[in-house]
Amino acid sequence: MKKRVIIDTDPGLDDALAILFALGSDKFDVLGITTIAGNIGLDRTTANAGGLLAFMGRGDIPVIRGTDIPLTRELQDLVAIVHGMDGLKGVTLPDATSAPLNGAPDWIARTLAEAAPGSIDILALGPLTNIAHVVTEHPEVVDRIGEIIVMGGAVHAPGNSGPSSEFNFASDPEAASVVIGSPVKVTIIPLDVTRQVRADLNYVAAMPDTPHGRLARELLGVYLHNGRESRPLHDPCVMLAAVDASIFSIENMKLDIDLGDDPDAGRLLVDRRGMPVDVALGVDTERALALFRTGFV
Ligand code: RIB
Ligand code: CA
Repeated sequence: MKKRVIIDTDPGLDDALAILFALGSDKFDVLGITTIAGNIGLDRTTANAGGLLAFMGRGDIPVIRGTDIPLTRELQDLVAIVHGMDGLKGVTLPDATSAPLNGAPDWIARTLAEAAPGSIDILALGPLTNIAHVVTEHPEVVDRIGEIIVMGGAVHAPGNSGPSSEFNFASDPEAASVVIGSPVKVTIIPLDVTRQVRADLNYVAAMPDTPHGRLARELLGVYLHNGRESRPLHDPCVMLAAVDASIFSIENMKLDIDLGDDPDAGRLLVDRRGMPVDVALGVDTERALALFRTGFV
């Protein structure tokens, strides 16, 4: 039985790898890709999503533009170091085969409204603004969501935005707070585990010699920028958790989000008065990397 999913994303190199895995594996029925500003601006994340679908011959899957500003804060300065000004560090994709739709939150709500309870999972790979709009503006459809699996946050690991805050949650702390406080089952895949699932040059060289395996090799190649030893597969971990959660050690924790105005805004706070959330704190990296490769055969 394929998992019916909506992918919410800011491609971005690791997002692109996660999307290619989802499209290449036989585990997902991707209903749509909704885009958000994050790694790069909304125009680029939307164009990159369309290009990935065109590359995979899946122009039948809609791309829906999301919101380009956080719920309440200013958009963070784009940190194009990791992903480049085009979001893919120069890796070229075909043009999208059709224009994107507009209004991701309303499209998600309409899609959910037509679905059976708990029948659609949301795989969230970027800032959570779109999902937060759905939760707050369309509460009547939230019960159709089976689970939201989110790449974000850091529990014990250092942050990559502030000292303890992670980029996706720091980009829109209020949205992260709304989503983890929602009645939906949420599983967070934080930096604590995504930094352990790393691609090195040998792993890149061993990617299957298929068209999307070769594209993944190209994306990984530029991601391993400046000859770094290895790079973390942050967003692909969300897809891996959707396929086989047993790869991760998941604990239920009471969490809150720091909504302050300091550089650590968006950090996860372990607080007994917080919201109950499933959090991946351990990972079998060998199984994770082996499973990831199966999406490219
Ligand atoms: O902190 C890592 C996350 O931020 C990943 O989703 C990456 O794509 C960036 O969006
Ligand atoms: Ca991302």
